[in-house]
Formats: sequence, structure tokens, C-alpha cells
Amino acid sequence: MPQTLSVKTAAHPAKKTEILVLYVGEGLKLGPEAEKLVKAGGLDLKKLAKAAKFNGKPSETMGVLAPEGIDADRIVMLGYGKHDTDLKTARARGGQLVTILEALKAEKAAIILDTPDTDPAYVGRLAEALKLRHYKFDKYRAGKDKGDNGNDAPKPPAKLTVTLCVDDKRAVDKAVADRDAVAEGIILARNLVNEPPNVLGPVEFAGVANRLSDFGLEVEVLTDEQMRELGMGALLAVAQGSERPGRLAIMQWKGGKKGAAPVCFVGKGVVFDTGGISIKPGAGMEDMKGDMGGAAAVAGVMKTLALRKAKVNAVGVIGLVENMPDGKSYRPGDIITSMSGQTIEVVNTDAEGRLVLCDALHYVQDRFKPEVVIDLATLTGAVLVALGQEYAGLFTDDDGLATALSEAGETSGDKVWRQPLHKNYDKMIDSKFADMKNVGGRYAGSITAAQFLKRFINKDQSWAHLDIAGTGFGAGENDTNRSWGTGFGVALLDQLVRDRAEK
Ligand code: BES
Ligand code: MN
Ligand code: ZN
Repeated sequence: MPQTLSVKTAAHPAKKTEILVLYVGEGLKLGPEAEKLVKAGGLDLKKLAKAAKFNGKPSETMGVLAPEGIDADRIVMLGYGKHDTDLKTARARGGQLVTILEALKAEKAAIILDTPDTDPAYVGRLAEALKLRHYKFDKYRAGKDKGDNGNDAPKPPAKLTVTLCVDDKRAVDKAVADRDAVAEGIILARNLVNEPPNVLGPVEFAGVANRLSDFGLEVEVLTDEQMRELGMGALLAVAQGSERPGRLAIMQWKGGKKGAAPVCFVGKGVVFDTGGISIKPGAGMEDMKGDMGGAAAVAGVMKTLALRKAKVNAVGVIGLVENMPDGKSYRPGDIITSMSGQTIEVVNTDAEGRLVLCDALHYVQDRFKPEVVIDLATLTGAVLVALGQEYAGLFTDDDGLATALSEAGETSGDKVWRQPLHKNYDKMIDSKFADMKNVGGRYAGSITAAQFLKRFINKDQSWAHLDIAGTGFGAGENDTNRSWGTGFGVALLDQLVRDRAEK
């Protein structure tokens, strides 16, 4: 059984608990509530700190058995240095706390948030981080009485309840709910990315999108027949090698002014990418279950916007297909016709993401006349070569949008780095036989992929493409994640909406 985490808020003082967490600043500075507790317990903080070589510097911790006079079993002192106002440090602290509480096999903890820095916005971020860092994808572990790693590690307690003790419970509750909407969107995206490809096909993914209507989204799902009528020959060419038909899901959130042009998010949803006839090598191919990370992020951010009732009109469109080698597969040499009417010579069936996106991109512009279009895709291995797993690749001609996305990236932690678009790269995808080919040659793979997408963007349409092949999965542990699926893009797009549309 996975451990569940529940985060609550309460006004000071803390009620009886198992673990009491106190924030301690550099020079052993305490807030008023922590001060009272230390006094009540008759603790000689200086002496304890000296023995533990604890100074209250960021990330330092010290554990103490709770004395008579304090209604807890243990006290954990958490150093925060000079200031902890930075929302980034709130995330670090949240992650650190989860790790400590798990190591102590705690079931109940109370955190005293009584310093001037721990305002409602801070506490909201802290709660978000607790939840995100605590996330595990362990629904497929059958090792019943084992620990969560399936080995002989002791079983964690079934439930961990963390109470955040604060000055202004009402204001904090609002901030916590606001950030919880983001955490829930990220968790949806992670779950989708982590889900195995036998379980999550295009139809199943579309079903998940459909159920987001429970949160107030309007959802439509187009079948392969409906897409054929629309002329989506590029997306359907990718889908045709699979037993499982493709789908296009459209999710709308109408929280803004009636009739105002929407923000459109488009996601690549290749539930599994074998490469098709241009088949990939076997090693590491299992990672290609995550090739729907862009679609997962779009579904996640739509859920977030609905949960927090964002004041924006937003549309999320995801192209869902499986790229398989088969007697019915599309092949290198095929010439296909996209919904835009432009023809594409398929040179490599493993460059399938852009074929899915080009029809989805044309569709959103045609139908929604968007204010801005942002697509997310695990599009190229080349972006891993360029940027590793730290930054996603950002491609846009709109300088304002580039700045807004870069800033939202720094704020949210989903960092993006701009790369060029230029007509000289565009020439690299000219074809001898069709309007373009789907691969541009050996060099600048992420850029030629972006140039390909750009051919489907209307003149004067504000648009950005995010290549999240390096950041969508397997990017390593950090303050708020230790799962394979990262949920990258949810917090970024949510932040962009807050900064641009809701200002
Ligand atoms: N899904 C892959 C890109 C990818 C690679 C995502 C590694 C995540 C991790 C994409 O469909 C692909 O296969 N791209 C090819 C394009 C090439 C054939 C032009 C690539 O990057 O090698
Ligand atoms: Mn591919
Ligand atoms: Zn792919």
C-alpha cells in the first residue's frame, strides 16, 4: 500500500503531535511560537545546537527528544539561514521535510511557521512541495508487505499527516488551495507519463481527458474517422501502424471574458514510439512510453486552470497516437497530405511527433483563432544533446513571448532556454518530391523540427514550441520530484497564464 500524505493547516499553537518542526534562523533565531515552545520545554537550545554542530544555516537539521512540557515525541529543528522568503527555498524546504519525516517513519507532524518570511504565499509553496516530493508511482508494485522499493525495507506508515501551524489560517488556506491546484495538475501529468504503454493507449488517454469534465472543462474527443473527414493525413499516417486507433482530445476552460481569444496549448501524445518502420534500437526503448509527455503536460495544466478557476480562456489539444511497425504502417518515401493541405515526404517514420503536431496546430488555429499557441513535445533527441535535462528548448519568433516564458520558467522551476529559428534552417527540410520532408539531416535536429512546425503556423500568429524531450521524464531527483515522470510544463504554463492573461 502506498503511503498517503495529507496536509492540513491550523492556527498556532500546535496541538499534540508526534514530530514538531521548528524553523530556526542563523544564529539560532526563533520565531515567537517556537520561542514559547523552547521555553515551555526548558530546552537549552545553545547547548543542544553546539553538540549537534547546528547553526540554523539553510538545510541544517537537528533532532531532539521532546522534553516534558512539549506535547510531542520529537522536535526537529530546521535551519533556514538569514531569510526564507524566496519561493524557491520554500520548495527546497518542503522537499527536505518530506525526506526527514519519511526517515523518521512519522505519522503525524506539525510545522511551526511563525517567522515573518513564512507568509501565506510561502506556505502555499511549501505545501505544494510537500505533496510533490512525496509523490510516488507505485500502483504496480505487488510486493505486499515490503517497503516501497520492493526489497526488505520496512513498510512506511500508511498515512502521514502534516499540519502547518500558521498566524492567518484563512489567508493560508487560500494560498494552499491555489498551489494545490498546480500540484494536482503536475501529479496528473506525472501519472500519465509513468503509466505503462500497454495500459495507456490513445483511447485510454482520451478517456482521462474526457473525465476532466468533472472539474468543469468542456471536453471533446475526435475519433480517427472524424479526423479523416477533417483531412488530418499527417497525424493519421503515424497512427495507421497501430492496432489502437488515434484520437484528438480538445479540452476547453472558459474562465475569461466571453468571446476573448483563447490561449491554446498543444501536446504531442505518442503513447509509445517504437520509431515505426525506421525502428529504434532496443536499448532504452521502454522510455518511449513517455513520448506523450507534452500531451500529459497539456492535460495537467488544463486540470490546474479548472481547479483554481483561472480567469482565462484556455484550450488544450492533444494528438494521441501509437507509432508502431506493422504491415499497415506508413513508410519512408510515403508522401502524405496534412490538414493544412501542405504535403510531406516521410523520410524517417521516427520523426513522427512533428506529423502529429502539425495537424493539431493547424486545427487549433483554424478553429479557435488563438491569442497565442504553445506546443509541448518530447520531440527530438537532439535537444538532449544541446541542453541536457536541465532546460527545455524554446523556439519562437515572438520576443515578448520568449521573455514571458523564460521568466515563467525561472519562477516555476520548469526552466526553458531559447534556441534559434531561421530561414536558412528551414531550407534543410525542402523535399525533392513534396512541399517538405519530415527530417532535416544530421545537424540542428531540434531546430529543423521546430522549423517544420513553423510551416504550419499562420502569419502573425504568436506561437512558441517547447521541446521537452530532456525534461519530461527521467531527469533525476530534485527538491520536488523523485519520480520518473516529471510533470514538466504544467507549472510553467500555469505561471505564464498568471503572468500574462490574469494580470
Ligand atoms: N520521441 C522521439 C524523441 C525523443 C528522444 C524523446 C529521446 C525523448 C528522448 C522522437 O519521435 C524521435 O524519434 N526523434 C528522432 C528524430 C529523427 C528521426 C530526425 C530523434 O530525435 O532521433
Ligand atoms: Mn520518434
Ligand atoms: Zn517520438
